[in-house]
Amino acid sequence: MSKKNIFIFPGDEIGPEITTEAIKIIDFLNESKMTDIHYEFGDVGGASLDKYNKPITDETLEKARKSDAVLLASVGTPKYDNNTRELKPEHGLLVLRKHLNLYINIRPIFVFNTLSEFSSLKSELINDLDLVIIRELIGDVYFGEPRGFKDVNGDKVGYNTMQYSESEVQRITKFAIDIALKRNKHITSVDKANVLECSQLWRQTVDRIMEGHSNIDLQHMYVDNAAMQIIKNPKQFDVILTPNLFGDILSDAASMLTGSIGLLPSASLSETIGMFEPIHGSAPDIAGKGVVNPIAMILSLAMMFEYTFDRQDLARIIKKSVDDVLESGYFTKDLSQNDYITTNEMGDKILESIKKLC
Ligand code: IPM
Ligand code: MN
Repeated sequence: MSKKNIFIFPGDEIGPEITTEAIKIIDFLNESKMTDIHYEFGDVGGASLDKYNKPITDETLEKARKSDAVLLASVGTPKYDNNTRELKPEHGLLVLRKHLNLYINIRPIFVFNTLSEFSSLKSELINDLDLVIIRELIGDVYFGEPRGFKDVNGDKVGYNTMQYSESEVQRITKFAIDIALKRNKHITSVDKANVLECSQLWRQTVDRIMEGHSNIDLQHMYVDNAAMQIIKNPKQFDVILTPNLFGDILSDAASMLTGSIGLLPSASLSETIGMFEPIHGSAPDIAGKGVVNPIAMILSLAMMFEYTFDRQDLARIIKKSVDDVLESGYFTKDLSQNDYITTNEMGDKILESIKKLC
């Protein structure tokens, strides 16, 4: 593999702990000459507020944009809960997604069969579950204008704008089609078209783009029903295509099927760059205790190899190593309250397993 420059955001709270475990793997791959990855660190969220009084700086945004890929751990800390929106940690992440034009968010929901008993659902409902959420990431009510607070006859009002343009829906739908063609050719598009104009345009646009793809089975589903169906019968889904806000909520719900949100990675893509991050947040309640599960972060690294560097071999080795370690009965505290190994130990176990497979 030619030399690659990646930009790493350890971020907030548990972020640095899980970053350490991913870096161990990168260092090993570099030492054994399987990769030539140079990495540089940057600050986002609370970590950036601490230093620069901004949740991300322009210089950092540009450095990230010029890299070959970005790895991000987690953003958010209660320390800045009372800040106004533009000075909240999460704003840094949203600006970063927008700056890098990461309109595609891929959230694979899969179950390690060793862990099926950890799911809140019966094992037969989730054994061999394999669905993928394709979430539009830089539109919707997250970014719509106008937004803010106003005074209406002495009553304070907070407001946002939920909106999608045809071109935004079109590009994410095209991506969902590409993914569906490589999978079981079934797309469930989520909306709330019985109530929202924004969703009506979403649905019409999805229908229009899907014309000519009669080999793909398309279904529209209202988001409330989708939330129910994900819990009732998750194996009915293959590709879930969703607007930003609904995707945020549905992906947290779907993550619970797998036993722990600490297991799931994600990829956010533009036409030119990818950013890879766990789908979980910064978990302030467990930060600094050595109990966080580093697997979502390590699997995010695997997704970086898969989607940006075209190294399916390394992605497979990392995934297999995680599987083997879980299979051997080693769990972090999110999965096993009484008998668990630390973040560091889990990282080491996975690394040992990678070394055996390389
Ligand atoms: C996610 C997170 C973010 C989101 C937050 C941290 C802004 O919940 O990636 O799902 O809402 O997109
Ligand atoms: Mn979320």
